[in-house]
Amino acid sequence: MARLYFDGNAELIRGKVVSMIGFGNQGSAQALNLRDGGFNVVVGNIEDEYAGRARDQGFTVYPIPEAVKRGDIIVMAIPDEVQPEVWARDIAPNLSPGKIVVFLSGYNVYYGFIKPPRDVDVVMVAPRMIGEGVRDNFVSGRGFPVLIGVANNYSGKAWDYALAYSKAIGAIGRPGGVAVESSFEEETITDLFSEHTWGGALLFLLAEGYNVLIENGVSPEAAMLELWASGELVAIAKAIVERGLFAQLRGHSTTSQYGHLTWGPKYVTDEVKRLMREAVRQIRDGTFAREWALERMLGYPVFNRLWDEVMRSRVWQDEDRLYRALGSVGNASAIK
Ligand code: NAI
Repeated sequence: MARLYFDGNAELIRGKVVSMIGFGNQGSAQALNLRDGGFNVVVGNIEDEYAGRARDQGFTVYPIPEAVKRGDIIVMAIPDEVQPEVWARDIAPNLSPGKIVVFLSGYNVYYGFIKPPRDVDVVMVAPRMIGEGVRDNFVSGRGFPVLIGVANNYSGKAWDYALAYSKAIGAIGRPGGVAVESSFEEETITDLFSEHTWGGALLFLLAEGYNVLIENGVSPEAAMLELWASGELVAIAKAIVERGLFAQLRGHSTTSQYGHLTWGPKYVTDEVKRLMREAVRQIRDGTFAREWALERMLGYPVFNRLWDEVMRSRVWQDEDRLYRALGSVGNASAIK
């Protein structure tokens, strides 16, 4: 079993300057939480709309190299795929011995896309929570889970710093909060595993379920409300978190329970089991990471083609109409 920490000593980092590199999903939430807790936060950002948002919230924004020079704690809150380039150009040349670098995911260090120098502490505090949740939980007095890890323990205090940072952003020391002792490798594998297996499969299974119901004469409205648009899925997800994966099933009708237990396992075929193990192998040995890096270098050709296919699908078109009829913005929110 992993070691669990429910509290940490945030006073260890109270006098230090935290340079939040990036002010997006995680960066904005963590910067606001830190500031509300009385920590000293500056933002390092390129001149884009995120820099504007940080200024609107009253933060001082510096160019990234300047923020790195000013900070004692450098938090990598920019997308994983842009980090190697920004690290090489703006961060590494401005680091000095004894700084603490906080990664919010294990990805770049695990794959060796970023190789931090030996004379800084390198820790991971990876929230199991979207940015909005990081902020909302903080405001309502609750914590949230994080995976923590250490890649460089230059000071000998890197684990304490990981816990101190977890406490300072409001993850631990509050109800619902826990820091799980982990590693950059474990975080990367578990995170990508969900995306590559059940997460993606769930979306495409629901879309296929929609096609099957339509083929069988069900109206688009009834099909989509049944499958995902009603919000029942959200209630089930909440019950899973509160009561357990299978325990929540007791809250369904007995007809539903029997249907789940008889039909559910049929989808976990030998081929699916093989695919899940193959996914772990391709994550662990870097096959996926190389493919994604190449995709970015080539200008996202496959990514864009796959998005085009989704946007041309019947489910996308019907969903847009239904969501607008129900009064939401529809799929327009996803068009960049
Ligand atoms: P994001 O996509 O919200 O990042 C936006 C920020 O990145 C902005 O400040 C923008 O100015 C900056 N940025 C974008 N392109 C840039 C470039 N080329 N050069 C310099 N700055 C650039 O990022 P997000 O989602 O907050 O992810 C940040 C880190 O947090 C990642 O390591 C991610 O894996 C991790 N993480 C994210 C979670 C989430 O809920 N989104 C959950 C847990 C971890």
